[in-house]
Amino acid sequence: MASRSPSMSKAKDTDSVQKDVGVKRNPVTKWVLRITFVLALIATCNWLDTIKDRWYVFEPTKLHQLAQSAIAAHQNDTAGMIRHIVTNLTAEYSPSVVAINPDASEWFFNNAGGAMGALYIIHASITEYLIIFGTPLGTEGHTGVLSADDYFNILVGEQWAFSPGQLEMERYPAGSVHYLPRGTPKQYKMHKGCFALEYARGWIPLMLPFGFTDGFTSTLDIVALYRMTILSAREMFRNLLIGKI
Ligand SMILES: *[C@@H]1O[C@H](CO)[C@@H](O)[C@H](O)[C@H]1NC(C)=O
Ligand SMILES: *[C@@H]1O[C@H](CO)[C@@H](O)[C@H](O)[C@H]1NC(C)=O
Repeated sequence: MASRSPSMSKAKDTDSVQKDVGVKRNPVTKWVLRITFVLALIATCNWLDTIKDRWYVFEPTKLHQLAQSAIAAHQNDTAGMIRHIVTNLTAEYSPSVVAINPDASEWFFNNAGGAMGALYIIHASITEYLIIFGTPLGTEGHTGVLSADDYFNILVGEQWAFSPGQLEMERYPAGSVHYLPRGTPKQYKMHKGCFALEYARGWIPLMLPFGFTDGFTSTLDIVALYRMTILSAREMFRNLLIGKI
């Protein structure tokens, strides 16, 4: 700017020459800046990906034990299992470490990958979520190519799954956990209805498009989309406020 300002106050010819030079140089500078920005962004994302586990609060093995103790204490009583889980988590984890949503009346529909069920968000932050997901009717669909590791703790019923190449199905009965590593989709079915405590750890915001797309392109269920948006955002925000990423 300092070298340009005096020339701008001079004759029009000099000014337009300066402008031409500026126009010729700008695209190159712009692209160099853009590429630098993209490379810096990729490097930052890669780095964040290597350190994301420092923000995890929940432990897959502990949650599995909790799911099993909920089943043992409340056979055939799904609501009792959910109460058991939420009571345990609110007692185990200080509200200064992680925000938990104790309101088990906040259910809403979710359609994703062709499957349909309802869910209740117990916890949602940038790197983790913990939900109750299921349906008493049964459903079937694509798990999605998830950006997080997923631990599906079956509470009631049974989940079946398979990957291309397998000729037999995998069976996950109540009390077992179906572990789905990041980026490995499967076809799944909750044949006669099933409820599960689902724990995901990784990059949660990147999973949201999968969770929303069927709502926008198929069901157009505004209420479900609204609840999912508001409740996920509220829980992520509550966690960010206490420094839980
Ligand atoms: C929560 O559940 C786990 C697993 O069953 C158990 O070890 C732990 O003692 C429980 N905590 C509370 C506070 O009930
Ligand atoms: C749970 O339900 C099954 C089948 O409906 C039944 O056989 C079993 O006795 C029930 N268990 C309890 C503890 O009520």
